Order: sequence, then C-alpha cells, then structure tokens
Amino acid sequence: MTPSSSSRPLDLRELLAFYADAGVDEALTEEPVNRFAQAEGRAAPTRPAELPAGAETGRRPSPDAGSRAAPAQAMAVPDQAQAAAARDLARNATTLNELREALASFDGCNLRLTAKNLVFADGNPEAELMLVGEAPGRDEDLQGLPFVGRSGQLLDRMLAAIGLDRSRAYIANVIPWRPPGNRTPTPHETEICRPFIERQIELVNPKVLICLGGPSAKTLLHTTEGILRLRGNWREHVTASGTAIPAMPTLHPAYLLRTPAHKRLAWRDFLEVKIKLRSLQA
Ligand code: URA
Repeated sequence: MTPSSSSRPLDLRELLAFYADAGVDEALTEEPVNRFAQAEGRAAPTRPAELPAGAETGRRPSPDAGSRAAPAQAMAVPDQAQAAAARDLARNATTLNELREALASFDGCNLRLTAKNLVFADGNPEAELMLVGEAPGRDEDLQGLPFVGRSGQLLDRMLAAIGLDRSRAYIANVIPWRPPGNRTPTPHETEICRPFIERQIELVNPKVLICLGGPSAKTLLHTTEGILRLRGNWREHVTASGTAIPAMPTLHPAYLLRTPAHKRLAWRDFLEVKIKLRSLQA
C-alpha cells in the first residue's frame, strides 16, 4: 500500500513512519514542499527567487534552490544585524577556546538548527600548516570533527604524502555546521560564517594555509576564479591585522574521490606546500 492510498483517511503517523523506513530522516529545507501536488500535476505555489544555487564541488544544490523565499524566521532579523553580531563575536574572541564558545552561542546562522554538532576544528593549533574546507558532511556532523569521513581519510593520506599528520596540521571549515542533506551552503550562510573562520585563521596564525576546494578558496582569497584555474598558484590570505599568509588553493578531497585522475594535480600542490614550509623554516 502506498501512503497516498485513498481507501481510508491518511494517517500522518503512518506516513511519517513510511518516510522514516525509506531513510527520509531529516528536513532539507526550512519549509515543506507538497510533492503530492507536484505529482498530481497541480502547480506548487511559486515564490520569488532567494539566492542562486552555488556551483561548488562535492555537494548537491539546495533542493528548489532559486524558487523559494528566505524563511520568515530568518527574515525577522536583518542580515546586517546578523553579520554585525558575527563580526563582533569573532573580533572579541582572543583565544581559540573563546572563538569556539562564541560560535556555539551564535544564533545568526540557521544551519545550527539542523546540525547535530558544531564542527570547530581538529589537529594542532600550534601547527605551521592550516587547512580549510567548505563545510562538514554527515560523518563530521556526527563526530563534531572536520574531515573524518571518506574525504578526511583521503586528506590524511595526502598529508602523509608530505610527511605530515593531524598532530602537525590544523583543520577547519569555512562553515562549522553541516548543511542539511549535504546541500551547498548559500552565499548568505557563507558570509555570516566568514568572520569566524577569518578570526580562526588569525588566531592560529599558520605559516601556510591550504584552501581545500573552490568554496574555501573563493571565500578566503576573495576571488571568483574557478578552482581549476586557481589551484597550484600561491596566493595570500590577509588577516584583519594585516598579516599576509601564503595560501595554496587545491582540489577538494571529495572532488578527488570522484575524479581520481586529478589526484596528481593535488599531489603537485601538496609538494609545493612542503617546499614552502621547508623554505620558511630555513
Ligand atoms: N568536506 C568539507 O569541506 N569539510 C569536511 O569537514 C568534510 C567534508
């Protein structure tokens, strides 16, 4: 029997159980979509465009991206106020612990409502190398640590290839909460979280930064260039206090898992990082 059977009134508990059995166990968007109306050919109400879907790698676009408005709750607080609150909290944090606490108390980003854990960082905050990804996935959300799933295992192998491990690297993400269903973070979410990752980089003050994937590179290097053009070329990430940190944009491990032929490109980028770290020690 299907959940749309009309032989008796629809029991919502049964419908939910049916969804749960089918593995539908989380909400991807803030508002429900009437799939039954869509299936029956009735036009679902259209809404004004919100934000363009991201073109980042390794994630799927938000369902119905571009066809729904920002949720009423988010509209209640002007973006400017959220952004200002994020900047203040980040700037006032003088240690990484304070920054983690500031993020934990920050309610200006709706992603925290669907995430199970704040994913702040892993590795050694004293390390010379810092790596920044895009946003946590399912495994990271469950464990509260960045890059612990399949991409993380590949990242560990990439680090090992240049003689490093997590005791000699510090790892974080631009966005510290998992976007529901692994969708691409919206530009709004990225901008709201930007002050925190920028402050995190400033507090760690690494000698070298690796931007893992296009979204991280675009955010931290203030560019719109694609990752295939950016990768392999040294750039600088300039902190709020004016320190210029050499930054290497490279391909995201999730992308490399899907496109193994490009692993050799990432390998070259990591070798560049190894050479740079050596030259900075000399
Ligand atoms: N992808 C990311 O960008 N970050 C993670 O922590 C895991 C996967």
